[in-house]
Amino acid sequence: MQLSLLETTDPRLYAENRVNELHALLHHHNQCYYQRDAPEISDAEYDELFRELLALEESYPDLVTTESPTQRVGVAPFGRFRTVTHRLPMLSLENALNDNEIRVKLDMRVKKELGLAETAAVAYMCEPKMDGLAIELIYLEGALTVASTRGDGVTGEDVTRNIRTLRGVPLRLTGTDVPKLLEVRGEVYLSLDAFQKINREREENGDAPFANPRNAAAGSLRQLDSRVTAGRPLSMYCYAPGMVEGVQFLSQYEFLNAAAGWGLPVNPLIRRVVNVDGAVAYYNEMQEIRESLPYEIDGTVIKVDSFQLQRELGEKSRSPLWAIACKFPPRQAETVLENVLLSVGRTGVITPVALLKAVDISGVTVSRATLHNWDELAAKDIRIGDRVIVERAGDVIPAVVRVVTECRSGAEKAVLPPETCPECGSVVVRIADEVALRCMGISCPPQIRESIKHFASRAAMDIEGLGEKVVEQLLSLGLVHTVADLYCLTKDDFMRFERMGDKLASNLLAALEASKTCDMARFIYALGIRHVGERTAKALAQAFGSIEYLEKASVGELISVRDIGATVAASIFTFFNNPDNQKVIALLRARGVSPKSVAKTVGGRLSGKNFVFTGTLTRFSREYARKLVEDLGGNVVGSVSKKTDYVVAGEEAGSKLAKARTLGIAVLGEEEFLNMLEAT
Ligand code: IVH
Repeated sequence: MQLSLLETTDPRLYAENRVNELHALLHHHNQCYYQRDAPEISDAEYDELFRELLALEESYPDLVTTESPTQRVGVAPFGRFRTVTHRLPMLSLENALNDNEIRVKLDMRVKKELGLAETAAVAYMCEPKMDGLAIELIYLEGALTVASTRGDGVTGEDVTRNIRTLRGVPLRLTGTDVPKLLEVRGEVYLSLDAFQKINREREENGDAPFANPRNAAAGSLRQLDSRVTAGRPLSMYCYAPGMVEGVQFLSQYEFLNAAAGWGLPVNPLIRRVVNVDGAVAYYNEMQEIRESLPYEIDGTVIKVDSFQLQRELGEKSRSPLWAIACKFPPRQAETVLENVLLSVGRTGVITPVALLKAVDISGVTVSRATLHNWDELAAKDIRIGDRVIVERAGDVIPAVVRVVTECRSGAEKAVLPPETCPECGSVVVRIADEVALRCMGISCPPQIRESIKHFASRAAMDIEGLGEKVVEQLLSLGLVHTVADLYCLTKDDFMRFERMGDKLASNLLAALEASKTCDMARFIYALGIRHVGERTAKALAQAFGSIEYLEKASVGELISVRDIGATVAASIFTFFNNPDNQKVIALLRARGVSPKSVAKTVGGRLSGKNFVFTGTLTRFSREYARKLVEDLGGNVVGSVSKKTDYVVAGEEAGSKLAKARTLGIAVLGEEEFLNMLEAT
């Protein structure tokens, strides 16, 4: 990316122009690095641009804006991650694609290399092949000191700060015979649930969703701000030793058992088998249970169990001869993109959806797939009539992966983003910094439909029975125009519906009645305010205590609520100051909806307890710790006094720790603090 600098001799004007250019350049290079994984410049060049911006901002403080890359909370001011050279290279594996290849490419080759008879039995360790990213942890004298990514196998990135936020990774090994040095490799992954939740939030915020759990895990781990990582529930399973000093193992089986004994996470689905038949059976079994697992696996890994035999076999061209990755058949298929449908969501976001010639992908018929957003559609140059590769992963919505460009005839039609809403004809806008296109119509039918569905959903007002079908009928009969109309419905109204019995209608009315006294947090979430998910709704309920206060809150008051920044505060403020929304809220109130006010954080399990954090926290950020305490009703204060109940001391804690000791206040380490929260 090249930008030309406006020639000027006025230093102030020069600074202004250059700052703008640097914003654009840094933004562009961040995108290349983080989103496309294709950096165009070296880390050193990036740092130089960053430093130049910092220097200009120092000379002209009024040029610092909230959008500046220097102002991103938690971004390390310089550089990205330090690089780490692995003491032993992190190898990759050769692939087997079916039962026969396991026998030929692993078992037969192993026996040939070892000079064993074809009928001999070699014992194997069988493990699920987690679909995430490989990480090496280094424990010195039992303490986690470094965590790094695989990188190119020789050097990776130092992601220690981020790995420390993973609850499943012990900071200190426990149990007996803990080695002096333990390098252990494993896979960091994201559960399917967590993946879907993150993507829902991203879409609500107008960010591009992650294509799959692996990308989401990689993106979360490579955050420079470890607080972001802390908010993403990443997990890890350990699967192999690196360099180990102080303990010896005879086999992979022994090693993994010892690792589990030291508190390291090891997949419970691992199995030792006595011969290759067992390994083949394991591969088939895993393929069967694959869809029922809460995380993605893309195959199994079969390893010669004995470390002695592993050493004898050695490696060839960066893959060991003693192991193989047995991949499952890809859940991909080729089909034709027949059309592109424009789907309008609750917040007005218009998403392109691929209508496909129906195709079977490992037992499931797929005829629709997500195209994510317009940027992606353009980047992949997807046209109507194209032959495309479609992929299905777990219970994730199928996605169009790429176009089979070799099959193009020239008759394919490009898809352009719409200028008006396909549903209501209103103007469509693209909000700065968002990838999404939005319909701005206030009476856009699908937006109304989706917002009513959202209002009634389980996490919101939880109106059982008010699902998709009922909402459709309510709208088509013209019985409901806004969510407030739900509370005017009578039994006779429901009885006009198809397949509606007396009992169902009564249940619906009872569910509506019960929802009138829901929790305040649910009500706030139900309103469907942009950027306000369940967590933010809870924080708002806790901070304001009643809807009336929240409605009148200023942007400043909103920003003072934990976790709420300028964008979210502005969105909440705009929502409550919109006359249409005010009208709906007034009607809801008039029709009996009266959410329970929240007594501010009283009754939390840490209610009334005062915490002080001191020293360098390595396991989590201070912000994160504050949130944990406040969520349970506790307070975080700055200085130690007689009123302090707990001091949580990180590394190199100084005078506050000393004071706590003299006052006899309970001092907790980071781990003890987390344990205590778990116990309360
Ligand atoms: S063993 C030399 N075990 O698969 C041993 N790898 O294709 C190397 N993976 O980079 C790795 N689950 O990221 C091993 N149980 C498992 C695994 C596993 C997932 C990944 C790992 C590795 C890649 C190799």
